[in-house]
Parts: sequence; structure tokens; C-alpha cells
Amino acid sequence: MRVLVTGATGFVGSHLLAQLRDAGIVVRAFARPTSHTSRAEALGAEVVRGSLLDADDVRRAYEDVDAVVHAAGGGLALEPSAIFRANTETTATLVRCAPPTLRRFVLVSSLAAHGPSRPGKPATEEEPDAPRSVYGESKLEAERHADALSCPVTILRPPALYGEGEHRMDPLLDAARRGVIPMVHPGGTMSLLSGPDCAAAIVKALTTEHPSGRYYVAEPAPITRATMARTLGRRVGRPDVRVIALPPATLRAAAALAELRARMGAPLVLTRDKVRDVLCRHQACDPSRAMRELDWHPKDSFIATGRPDRNQEGAAE
Ligand SMILES: NC(=O)c1ccc[n+]([C@@H]2O[C@H](COP(=O)([O-])OP(=O)(O)OC[C@H]3O[C@@H](n4cnc5c(N)ncnc54)[C@H](OP(=O)(O)O)[C@@H]3O)[C@@H](O)[C@H]2O)c1
Repeated sequence: MRVLVTGATGFVGSHLLAQLRDAGIVVRAFARPTSHTSRAEALGAEVVRGSLLDADDVRRAYEDVDAVVHAAGGGLALEPSAIFRANTETTATLVRCAPPTLRRFVLVSSLAAHGPSRPGKPATEEEPDAPRSVYGESKLEAERHADALSCPVTILRPPALYGEGEHRMDPLLDAARRGVIPMVHPGGTMSLLSGPDCAAAIVKALTTEHPSGRYYVAEPAPITRATMARTLGRRVGRPDVRVIALPPATLRAAAALAELRARMGAPLVLTRDKVRDVLCRHQACDPSRAMRELDWHPKDSFIATGRPDRNQEGAAE
């Protein structure tokens, strides 16, 4: 099987390429002209370059391809149009150019496409979606484009991801090292998933017979944000870390400031749109359907990353 993988140079993509190689699946990685592809090449992928908004580039990339994993995308941008371009318009081009011989299209969407979950009730695939962020809307619209394909379509909705190569939790780790993590809704619940387990779900989506549809992929047990913070504290050798409630207005103001700084040339680290998702008190989902129909079982546990015997970072300090 030859699979066209977008987003191969990202966090999920790098874990995915390693697992596809181990499964004996041939990978063609679609990269931007500016993408750093040395790791993808080292993992055995054939790299083709182009724009996912250019139909000719995409048609060329589709040659002799059996399936697609569309993992390119993201939500950290100053303009909503850039978020829609990365998630929705790229999907629309891939859908428009898909050859009739395509055997499966796997879209890496997000729990953000659903929006907040209800207290004590992790989201299931049957519940209606009400995204709160532009990012979530862009993913939901991408899903609708994918639904229009005539081949089988698997839409995976991971929650926040963690693991080697994912740096979005770094500010929280820094705060943990200082001994205090400010956090909105510390009693709120969230699902998490490791990068390798997310990649494993994608591999299962390519190799297991299953119906088209949406699948939440997450660790089975959601945790509170306070538990997440304390786990990060243990990971950096600060089991005594204090979690303090941060007023939502403070986080919104921090995001507005971060956007302003980014417009003046600083790296973009937070946006008001990201904050819209963070402010959902509960962001939990139920992976039962994926576990059952994809025969997928996550191996990692976020809480275990803070166990003393795995506390390499803390031990080094
Ligand atoms: N990380 C999470 O917590 C999380 C949670 C839920 C869902 N997701 C979704 O999972 C997917 C993979 O996420 P990730 O964490 O691996 O992201 P990442 O590390 O930021 O990597 C993003 C990948 O997408 C590519 N990309 C971004 N914008 C693009 C565009 N406009 N055109 C073409 N390629 C583009 C990047 O290429 P370059 O190398 O050229 O930049 C990179 O390969 C994304 O769709 C994301 O929305 C992520």
C-alpha cells in the first residue's frame, strides 16, 4: 500500500511515519517548499513538494496512491483566513482532486470540531457539534468536505496531544518548575492522547476494515486540569506544585498581548482563538467506538508520564 501523508513534517506526522515504516507501508510525504523534510526522508518517505491549495500539485502527488492521511493543519495563526486555509481549504483541494481509485481517506481533525463536552459526559460521535473556536469551525468544515468523497472516509478527532516533539505544554512545564501553575477551570475535565497512540490510530484506520465516520481517539479516562498540572509538576521534580485558578479574563488579555507582540515580530505563542477552546470547561471525549471498530487500544497514559520512575527530567535537575 502506498499512502500520501500530509503534515508528515509535524509532531503527529513524525510518529506516523515511523509506525508506517514499521508496518511496511510505503509513504509519499507531501511537504511545502519550506518544510524541513530530513527526518521524513530518514524515515524512508518519498518527499514531494508543493502547495495543498494547488490542484496540479495535489493531482501529481496522488499518482499511484492507495490511501491518504491528511494530517497537515493547525490553529495557531493571527488571521481566521489562515486557519481556514490550513485546515479546510487544504482538505477541499485533496477531496476535489482525489482519484476514483482511492481506497481510504483519513482526516486528522480535532475534538475542537465538537466544542465543549457536558459535565461528566465525555463527547460521543452521536452528539451534535458546536465548536467554539475558528479552529474548531475550520476542522468541522474540513470534515464536511471529506464526507463528500465517494471512497471510505475516516475522521479522527484527537484531543490535546502530548509526547516527544510536542511543545505546546512547555509553558506549563516552565510554570511547574517555578512551583505554581495558573490554570483556568482547574476542576474542568479533559481528554489527552500521546503522539504515538494517535499515530497508531491512524495506522489502524488504514489497515482495519471499518465503516466511514467520525471517531474520537483519546485515552479512555479523562482527567481534571488540576491533575494534568500536578502530573506535569511530578514530571519536572515538583510534586509540590500549586495549581491556582486563573480568571478567564486574564488569559484572554494574555492572548491579546501575545497577538500584539507577534504582530511586532515575536513568535506567535497564544491567540484569543486558542483561548476560546481552552475556556471550554470540559473537553473530554469517549474513544469507545474507535477502540471497538478500529481495534485500537492506546498504550500510553498521561498520568504515568509523571510517575517518579519515569521522572527523568526531574531527576536531572
Ligand atoms: N497537536 C495537538 O495537540 C493536536 C490536537 C488535535 C488535533 N491536531 C491536529 O493534528 C494534525 C497534526 O498536528 P501536529 O500536532 O502534528 O501539528 P504540527 O506539529 O504543528 O505540524 C503541522 C503539520 O502541518 C503542516 N502544515 C501546516 N499548515 C499547512 C498548510 N497551510 N499547508 C500545508 N501543510 C501545512 C506543517 O508543515 P510545515 O512543516 O511546512 O510547517 C506540518 O507538517 C493537525 O491537523 C492538527 O490540527 C493536533
